[in-house]
Amino acid sequence: MANNLLKGKKGIIFGALDEQSIAWKIAEKAVEEGATIVLTNAPVALRFGQLQALADKLGAQVIPADATSTEDLENLLSKSMEILGGKIDFILHSVAMSINVRKNKAYTDLNYEWMQKTFDISAISFHKLMQSALKLDAINDWGSIVALTYIAAQRVFPDYNEMAESKALLESFARSFGYHFGSQKKVRVNTISQSPTWTTAGAGIKGFQEFFDYADKMSPLGNASAESCADYTISLFSDLTRMVTMQNLYHDGGFSTMGMNPAVIGL
Ligand SMILES: NC(=O)c1ccc[n+]([C@@H]2O[C@H](COP(=O)([O-])OP(=O)(O)OC[C@H]3O[C@@H](n4cnc5c(N)ncnc54)[C@H](O)[C@@H]3O)[C@@H](O)[C@H]2O)c1
Repeated sequence: MANNLLKGKKGIIFGALDEQSIAWKIAEKAVEEGATIVLTNAPVALRFGQLQALADKLGAQVIPADATSTEDLENLLSKSMEILGGKIDFILHSVAMSINVRKNKAYTDLNYEWMQKTFDISAISFHKLMQSALKLDAINDWGSIVALTYIAAQRVFPDYNEMAESKALLESFARSFGYHFGSQKKVRVNTISQSPTWTTAGAGIKGFQEFFDYADKMSPLGNASAESCADYTISLFSDLTRMVTMQNLYHDGGFSTMGMNPAVIGL
């Protein structure tokens, strides 16, 4: 049910790895809604992921970029403007990775070099992206930048490990950079705090199935799917939300406001 909400807009979508990826669904909907896009991911992800198949389907070009490299980010932004024929209207940051989580390190026994890498990939990359975009004057007035986050930034979810601090940092960058981008360029910056979702990154969290089921029961509307996250993200890229900025927006079926749900304890 497309409504041309992004007609004529140009965007960059980070983080589509395979069909499960939230970014994959967002890329599909953005094109459905009339946008032209460039797809990007880390060079290594292009080798084992399925991004080229999505690009072929959507008629989009792929530009590899390691989100931790400002050189790659500047190249991505400049090339995207060439390919799309002008400045960018929206960017999705859908990038996360934790080596400590991958290697099953306990929160009380973290490797700090890996932790730095996690912060760099999952949070500082967002600042690097915005700083590069501002320097290159790559975003149109009233453009929109969105990053995906999780409620472990505010509440304790023990198995989310050091990703909790990554997301807290990411959300803080959205607020602080949102001020600068808003006052200088009228560009808005928000984070969407999404329900647990079955993806490569999601399923990497210990006990993800139980965690997913718990959140599903706790939320009056159930967990929000990747497809509905895509719908919400499109609304934030569209002109219908021009005055929304520096917000962390929960997209979680009501989970974040619940204290107790009788369904969880079988009442
Ligand atoms: N899946 C969930 O339960 C869930 C819930 C809330 C928020 N999120 C967030 O949504 C976003 C997307 O994750 P997803 O669940 O779709 O999983 P995903 O594994 O499909 O996406 C993560 C992406 O990050 C990319 N990436 C990793 N290192 C990179 C680097 N150095 N440079 C560029 N890209 C790099 C990966 O290649 C991958 O495409 C992440 O920020 C994640 O934390 C996920």
